[in-house]
Amino acid sequence: MGRSTFILRVTIFLISLICVQGDTFHEELVIKPFLPAHLYTYFQFITLVNSESSEDTHLSPRSLLEIVSRFQVDELHFTLTEGQWRHRQWGYPVFDAAPGAELYAWFTSEVKDVDSQWKKLSAALSGLFCASLNFIENFNTITPQMALWPMSALPTNKNITSQLRYASLPREIVCTENLTPWKKLLPCESSQGFSALLNSRMIHNTNYHSIGVHVRKICASKDCSEINLEIKQTVSLVYDLNIIKSMDWSFTKLFGQGLPGACPLATSSKVYVDVTSNATRPFQLVPPPESVIYSQRGGSDTTFALYNIKADGQMVTIGAKHGSKNALTLSTPPPIYFNRYILGYGKEFGGIVTELINNFWTPIEVVVLENAPWWLPIQLSSLRINGEAKSDLVLSRYYSPGRSRQKPYHLELLMKLPPRSTTTLTIDFEFIFLKWQEYPPDANHGFYVGSAIITANLPTARNYTSLPISGSTFDSIINASKPWYPAVLRTNGAMVSLPTPDFSMPYNVICLACTVVALAFGPLHNICTKELVLKPTGTPVSLTQKIMNLFKKKQD
Ligand SMILES: *[C@@H]1O[C@H](CO)[C@@H](O)[C@H](O)[C@H]1NC(C)=O
Ligand SMILES: *[C@@H]1O[C@H](CO)[C@@H](O)[C@H](O)[C@H]1NC(C)=O
Ligand SMILES: *[C@@H]1O[C@H](CO)[C@@H](O)[C@H](O)[C@H]1NC(C)=O
Ligand SMILES: *[C@@H]1O[C@H](CO)[C@@H](O)[C@H](O)[C@H]1NC(C)=O
Repeated sequence: MGRSTFILRVTIFLISLICVQGDTFHEELVIKPFLPAHLYTYFQFITLVNSESSEDTHLSPRSLLEIVSRFQVDELHFTLTEGQWRHRQWGYPVFDAAPGAELYAWFTSEVKDVDSQWKKLSAALSGLFCASLNFIENFNTITPQMALWPMSALPTNKNITSQLRYASLPREIVCTENLTPWKKLLPCESSQGFSALLNSRMIHNTNYHSIGVHVRKICASKDCSEINLEIKQTVSLVYDLNIIKSMDWSFTKLFGQGLPGACPLATSSKVYVDVTSNATRPFQLVPPPESVIYSQRGGSDTTFALYNIKADGQMVTIGAKHGSKNALTLSTPPPIYFNRYILGYGKEFGGIVTELINNFWTPIEVVVLENAPWWLPIQLSSLRINGEAKSDLVLSRYYSPGRSRQKPYHLELLMKLPPRSTTTLTIDFEFIFLKWQEYPPDANHGFYVGSAIITANLPTARNYTSLPISGSTFDSIINASKPWYPAVLRTNGAMVSLPTPDFSMPYNVICLACTVVALAFGPLHNICTKELVLKPTGTPVSLTQKIMNLFKKKQD
């Protein structure tokens, strides 16, 4: 190699270093088997935007950046989810999400009129993702006081909760229209890189799927004098291996195709396979992993097989092969899980029950946020904890009563759950009548009630799906030496059937009335319009003569 070539190479290297310094893009895929027969795949695309150079960026999605800067958003979380995460069987996902659409955001402290800014933000995102976020109004928005905390490096975190707004739309359905604009935000779109695996035909067939966008500000340096914007796009999918009809999985079986190499613009492209379950149910990875990472965090020992994917355009297919047929192994439940259901019969009163199960041997502190729409009035006086009105499990309480067509009901409880116990929260509601235009087209289907949010300080990081690298959800806020791990979880949603008028009645009345009119009209019309004319006759014919005439005709 001549000297000139060497100098040329160094120059190219330096130029590329300067160019890359603006933004970086990382793609990651985590695959984790759930015993006995589910498989969790989690995609994470992280774009780090150097806030100074956001004008001439080539990696970050401009449309989203513009929304974030125009509405002065500090942190934003938006998810669209179909299906229900089963915490008891599956442990905790990287990001939990409420069924349907969920949006919450913190605005910067410069924003004074947060409510109007919130409405504008949801309208803008609604256009960007083709979702019905424009249905977010004051009557379904709350300001959580204890349950949600920012993950950003907020420079002025004086009055955090007043800048926060939260809304969920449990009716929203996720479909291809939402996935396409979501993919457009990625630098490689869907031609190359991990997003090529996100084939809408395959992912809408899973048991659970959730797509999300999470924007936050993070410190670029130790003293936090410089701030970067992190845009994290996530996809969570849970496959039922019984539908694939074998415990052995591969990219082709899961996504319908292999991986066509890494995105050429990505700084790193990594696939992690959680092989911790190899101890209970052995399997082989094909091809064998490049390296194995051991992660020890808060009482959990996790082993990941790691693949570094290159952008050489070669098809990569990773798969697992199990040996002989294994006996099914059941997973033990995570430290805390929950159940939610509706009580009552008839069309007058009902109740929502939330059961919280602490499966751990120490007490766990949780915040429970109940958010009921205005058409489901819940009364604080009817709150019962384990059947009692007064309970010393409640450490703190916040209640904001709803107002008809203006404000939802919002209750937050900070509780200490005793070890190995089940705590039952019951709260009663009344059914009310809506105005006739307020019913959805399929009113008899029932009305969705959003899920409750449970924020817990978990004493152990077991059952988390966390990555052994930065960029994992909680890494910025957990210090590995801290004795607890924050988790924000959602219960399942619920459905109530409100008293619904019989919408077929007007139709029945119209039909009946029309039939009567039609039946009455014929004879009346006949009588009124027809003239009675006497037959010109010769000699009157007697009855016997008539009969005789009849027979004569027959004989002819
Ligand atoms: C936070 O803001 C709200 C509304 O703007 C205000 O009522 C409250 O007093 C503020 N709290 C603090 C600690 O400044
Ligand atoms: C699982 O364990 C077996 C035997 O201990 C080993 O041969 C195999 O490579 C392991 N599989 C993975 C994916 O680590
Ligand atoms: C939770 O973690 C423990 C220990 O790592 C494991 O035995 C159990 O199966 C896990 N449960 C779930 C639901 O993942
Ligand atoms: C984590 O906590 C330990 C002890 O509380 C402290 O010494 C350390 O500096 C913390 N690390 C970070 C990154 O905050």
